[in-house]
Amino acid sequence: MHSFHYQRGKLTCESYPLDKAAERYGTPLYVYSSHTIVDHYQRLDRALHELHHEICYAVKANSNLSVIRLLADQGAGFDIVSGGELYRVIKAGGNPTKCTYAGVGKSREEIEYALRCEVLSFNIESEQELSAIDEIARSLNKRAPIAIRVNPDVSASTHKYISTGKTENKFGIAIDRVAEVYDRAQKMSNVRIRGVQMHIGSQITEIKPFVQAIEKMVPLVRQLKSDCGIEFFSIGGGIGIVYRGSLESGDKIWWKEDQSRHSLTIQEYTGATIPLLKSLSLRVLLEPGRFLVGNAGVLLTRVLYVKKTPAKTFVIVDAGMNDLIRPALYQGYHEVVPLRESRDQPLTKVDVVGPVCESGDFFAMDRDLVRIEPGDLLALMSAGAYGFTMASNYNSRPLPAEVLVSGSEAKIVRRRQSYADLIEHEIAEG
Ligand code: LLP
Repeated sequence: MHSFHYQRGKLTCESYPLDKAAERYGTPLYVYSSHTIVDHYQRLDRALHELHHEICYAVKANSNLSVIRLLADQGAGFDIVSGGELYRVIKAGGNPTKCTYAGVGKSREEIEYALRCEVLSFNIESEQELSAIDEIARSLNKRAPIAIRVNPDVSASTHKYISTGKTENKFGIAIDRVAEVYDRAQKMSNVRIRGVQMHIGSQITEIKPFVQAIEKMVPLVRQLKSDCGIEFFSIGGGIGIVYRGSLESGDKIWWKEDQSRHSLTIQEYTGATIPLLKSLSLRVLLEPGRFLVGNAGVLLTRVLYVKKTPAKTFVIVDAGMNDLIRPALYQGYHEVVPLRESRDQPLTKVDVVGPVCESGDFFAMDRDLVRIEPGDLLALMSAGAYGFTMASNYNSRPLPAEVLVSGSEAKIVRRRQSYADLIEHEIAEG
């Protein structure tokens, strides 16, 4: 259940009016609802109660220290993909021994750092990486806990850039080679086999790929349990969320209205996967990112100009693709809604675009919106996942601020960058 609603004509986050946030902290501004994040975590946790499970939040979705802290306080573990993410988890009060470390290109420094912090496991993505980790662990006189990431060759029917479980993707080790690699790992003196892992992609809105992948894995997992004594099976993340109609979806996490808007429900996900997993009698790890934080955040932006050309009407806003790159990179859909409620007003088709000097710098194309004037405030919905974490300084635009709301209170959790911040690490030689 997300907490963005109109109250007395104003879009609010929990009970904090978003226009107040924009006035107080400026725009572009990310605003997150702490209640939504905790609610999503608890719902998933409850739905999994029949399994011995661990929810390892995928930090890459939103790595703000306060977001990590909220989830750490709930008892979450973490799925990390870099030394930087591990550092953030520790700084936020998360437990490194509950971190699974994924990624095809872990460097020596990162591996040493993670070994020293005693992460729960390294998810091994290649045989060379396995050998490297064994060797690095030996040099530190440690045993590296590992799980091999299996590529089950299942199609996730999602955007090609976020599909990871097919043989043509760079991730994991092919399912038919995995037993042999475990065999090698068993003979290594400085690795300790702890589990097995998979992740087939992101923003998956059908149950089928999840079930297919787990079914494909089950015989292998059973074999690994008896041959190598694995303790856990990580089924990765990827649970899709509602983007279209996300504001009206109100008390639903997913919208299941008609076929075209079909989206997964939590009951469908756990109802189909738990029976398959339960029979394994293993600890099950999940790595949700978007599901926990996606609909818990919005990006607020102010309209600068409305430009009419013979072909189009452009609503030019002060947020750009550097602040939220999903539309440009994945043709991601985000609802665009005015902060002032405007029911029953005529709609016109507009493109909502940013100030960055690229034609790909848009948030919506040919979108029906009520009349918009310069100075109006808009919210780009469902921006809590892969929003700020993918932001950049392109066009030398300072990174936006981030605010966390709890009830009627808003706290700044990252201050806006200044121009001085932009050049802080630069040296003007000569
Ligand atoms: N586990 C692993 C190993 C992953 O690679 C990912 C995401 C997750 C878990 C979390 O997936 P989620 O539950 O959030 O779907 N920037 C893209 C999404 C990239 C996902 C990368 N890996 C987007 O904005 O759609």
